[in-house]
Amino acid sequence: MSELSVNHLLGIKYINEKDIQLIFETADHFKEVINRSIKKVPSLRDITIANIFFENSTRTKLSFELAEKRLSADVINFSAGQSSVKKGETLIDTVNNILSMKVDMVVMRHPNPGAGIFLSKHVKAAIVNAGDGAHEHPTQALLDSFSIREKFGDVAGKKVVIVGDILHSRVALSNIFALKLQGAQVKVCGPKTLMPKHIESLGVEVETDLRKALNWCDVANMLRIQNERLDISYFPTTREYTQQFGVNKAFLDSLDKEIVIMHPGPINRGVEITSDVADSKQSIILNQVENGVAIRMAVIYLLASKIK
Ligand code: CP
Repeated sequence: MSELSVNHLLGIKYINEKDIQLIFETADHFKEVINRSIKKVPSLRDITIANIFFENSTRTKLSFELAEKRLSADVINFSAGQSSVKKGETLIDTVNNILSMKVDMVVMRHPNPGAGIFLSKHVKAAIVNAGDGAHEHPTQALLDSFSIREKFGDVAGKKVVIVGDILHSRVALSNIFALKLQGAQVKVCGPKTLMPKHIESLGVEVETDLRKALNWCDVANMLRIQNERLDISYFPTTREYTQQFGVNKAFLDSLDKEIVIMHPGPINRGVEITSDVADSKQSIILNQVENGVAIRMAVIYLLASKIK
């Protein structure tokens, strides 16, 4: 039987192309399951999963919880804001206390890069990184690639441009790793101040002219401007950012070809993209969210099969 090469999902950097294909094939099956009238399978009746979130989330938190419930796992949810973390309890103490309640897997979102890696070395449970600071967001990249595969049949050879704040984006880094592993061509586009030094060493090209980037690509993944991570001003004003790197419907319609628009969410409507772009037929933003459940079912199922 095929199995993942890893016991934790800490980042796309730590998995390989075969792992991605196994996750996609498993997600294909679960996507069919969640479109049945009875959307639940008994696969993980003996598994308990804790979702521990130290940062806000809508899509990731809800879709992990739904994925776990669709697999019949027992689920507990922990939000740092209402917990004893507020009284000074450490991350390891917090997680070990949760694990002493016989928890098998921890899905964690944390503001610090590497928090999941740290945890995986100190606690006995499978760890799934649900976003760690500006480091990685592996399940987002997997659902993004799965959505491109669903739209085009394959990711290999597709031209993808990632637009916006590349510097602070865990979505950008995980997407770059995932897309390159699958043989896609990748460009990044955004203000020079939001472009990491040596980004080309990851095998991507930098294009600062948005029109050129969009005329080149098949897919544009429009990142959110993460105001909460911008400690200083990286561009003069939001209005000027939008003028140079935002996409409205007139701009989209003026391109040489019809491209696909993606966005990881949450959208700053009118900043990265306007509402008529977000809601257009070229947008697959809600397909991404739908695919997030099947992808997270696949990741949890495959990791759980290694701890049984
Ligand atoms: N894409 C994403 O991670 O969204 P949330 O922050 O709402 O989970």
